[in-house]
Amino acid sequence: MDTAPERRALAGRLTASGVLRQDSPWRSAVEAVPRELFLHPGVFLPVDGGRWQPVTALGTPPEEWTQIVYRDESLATQLDGHLTADAADAPVTGVPTSSSTTPTTVVDMLEQLDVADGHTVLEIGTGTGYSTGLMCQRLGEDNVTTVEVDPQVAARADAALEAAGHSTWTVTGDGLLGHPARAPYDRVIATCAVRRVPYTWIRQTKPGGIVLATVGSWPYGTGLAKVTVNDDGFAEGRIIGRSSFMHARAQALVPLAGDLSARTAYADTERPAKIPPVLLNEWMPAFLAQLTAPGAQFVRAMVGDGTRILYLFDAERESFAAFTEDASGWTVRQGGPVALWDAVEETLTAWQDAGSPDIANVRLHITEQAHTYWIGDRQSLRWEHRLI
Ligand SMILES: C[S@@+](CC[C@H](N)C(=O)[O-])C[C@H]1O[C@@H](n2cnc3c(N)ncnc32)[C@H](O)[C@@H]1O
Repeated sequence: MDTAPERRALAGRLTASGVLRQDSPWRSAVEAVPRELFLHPGVFLPVDGGRWQPVTALGTPPEEWTQIVYRDESLATQLDGHLTADAADAPVTGVPTSSSTTPTTVVDMLEQLDVADGHTVLEIGTGTGYSTGLMCQRLGEDNVTTVEVDPQVAARADAALEAAGHSTWTVTGDGLLGHPARAPYDRVIATCAVRRVPYTWIRQTKPGGIVLATVGSWPYGTGLAKVTVNDDGFAEGRIIGRSSFMHARAQALVPLAGDLSARTAYADTERPAKIPPVLLNEWMPAFLAQLTAPGAQFVRAMVGDGTRILYLFDAERESFAAFTEDASGWTVRQGGPVALWDAVEETLTAWQDAGSPDIANVRLHITEQAHTYWIGDRQSLRWEHRLI
């Protein structure tokens, strides 16, 4: 089935929504690259109860399949690190481990990359290869290198790129190491989230080049970092907006093991919370909490009678904050060497006092030794994460 009309319609929608910039060279790439080539053997569509319905290209009427392919949605293509849609014949549970990101996000990031003709790009997280295909179309296949950690995913993407007419550099490996063999690059773009920008990416970028990556460790409250690499080997920029991606596999948070009640039975302190912990359900407070307590996880639980209990856990620093609610508000009990909620609350108070600035006000400076984030010139809105 010829999908040229669907591709033109997708490009039209992306232009109308302002994602494709005026007279953007990416428009012809969106019109040229058939997304369906990258969705073989199929996708998993979400159904109720956290389950996924496998849908294959071969097992679906062409019109219906085309309609799925050109939805502006993220389409899961692999669950739990191995399962593809052709290997399941009924709804399944699982965690997506590879996907075709929604075209809005893909194209928005490509626009943010500010590429020019002749630029070389390193992409981390090939996935289906659709975003790689757009870059090959725009920049030429020799200028694009893409790294995928999962060998099966990489092989499927490579075949799809070949089918789309691009024999590009699809590398199977850990993208956290970049790909030094073809460095330096003008641009580095990550389509998986990272806790912090690996310094290897900065080292493999030309002076004046740009690195674009989603930073943070929670599934939300993460930000799109855009930094420019300097002659002296540091990079500086800002968080340009919200962004959410599956994490680089080595950095994906594993659920906490063990009995939470055992860990929190012996608190050092107990006091009323000045700020309700439910504020961490919001994107910017969650981002700030991650800056303040980078190793902490936010866990929501419920006891038998339906009472909510919330936790911040920092396994590395063996510290916790446990929150319970009654008619008078939230109480926090803290334990371990770091008073996590004291620190997060101090940050959130300073942020509120500063007028609750948006995530796009967060600046970022990266050296080999540290990531430093800040907002304005307040010492209380400055975070240094030392690496070595
Ligand atoms: C959201 S998908 C990428 C979407 C893709 N750009 C597209 O357009 O289809 C994220 C991919 O990152 C890959 N990934 C995770 N950790 C990685 C790592 N350390 N190095 C390279 N790829 C990684 C996953 O296997 C997954 O395929």
